[in-house]
Amino acid sequence: MTDHVRISVEDRVMRIAFNRPDKKNAITNAMYQAMGEALVRAEQDPGIRAVLFEGEGDAFTAGNDLADFAAVASGQLARSDMKAHTFLEALARAEKPYVAAVQGLAVGIGVTMLMHCDLVYVADDARLTTPFVNLALVPEAASSWLIPARIGHARAFAMFALGEPVDGRTAAAIGLANAAVPAGEVRAKALNSAKALATRPLGAVQATKRLMRDAAAISALMKRENEIFGQRLGSAEAAEAFRAFAERRAPDFSKISD
Ligand code: COA
Repeated sequence: MTDHVRISVEDRVMRIAFNRPDKKNAITNAMYQAMGEALVRAEQDPGIRAVLFEGEGDAFTAGNDLADFAAVASGQLARSDMKAHTFLEALARAEKPYVAAVQGLAVGIGVTMLMHCDLVYVADDARLTTPFVNLALVPEAASSWLIPARIGHARAFAMFALGEPVDGRTAAAIGLANAAVPAGEVRAKALNSAKALATRPLGAVQATKRLMRDAAAISALMKRENEIFGQRLGSAEAAEAFRAFAERRAPDFSKISD
């Protein structure tokens, strides 16, 4: 159990809130496990008809906890003990509708998970980044396909390889989100939409979601990405990237090439 994810149910909507605001809601192993288990419960519970992801504080989430990545890179944490896959598998298998409310920063998985949400509301001034290559990593959560499919290769590559940010208004304009609204309204807007979804006929909602996404292809790609992600985590480049973050300096990749 962790206090860093708050899970509640309101009007048949399961609310999953990142609750680690002092660390910009960076997601730890324990948080992935709690969220993965909650999503399995949501699928099984006939009383839950929609899931809402949101974040406490000024950020949605700064993505995977980099200390956990560093622990894997240095061998202190076994890759097989990482629980991100529990969460990713639940996203891939999802049949109930997911909604997200994004304020402030969304980094890495904070963006890629949005590709598995059916309605996404962002704050006008939200900042979405997927700086995988800056960390010597590769995209995950099937985002290497899902993001270019939404916004085209050119913009997606700039996000992945240059870490180019996308603001909330642009995210809505290019199809990464349904709408951009003032930051103070984003959670209420998303909650209202989730509650509206919960009043729709669940069988039809689920059948529509199943028709609109190829769950088997998503799972297969996640598996492929995961293999390469694991190799990258063990690379000298990634070790330098994580050291640089901990030491609050820019990484120097000039003398490393693997
Ligand atoms: N993992 C672990 N800790 C993180 C974190 C992460 N992904 N993101 C932020 N934090 C921590 C910081 O270390 C800091 O902790 P401290 O107060 O104990 O020093 C705290 O959260 C606040 O972050 P800070 O960097 O001071 O805030 P900021 O507003 O200047 O910058 C970010 C915010 C998100 C831009 C910056 O923290 C960042 O780049 N984080 C890494 C994001 C990332 O690469 N995620 C992985 C993607 S795959």
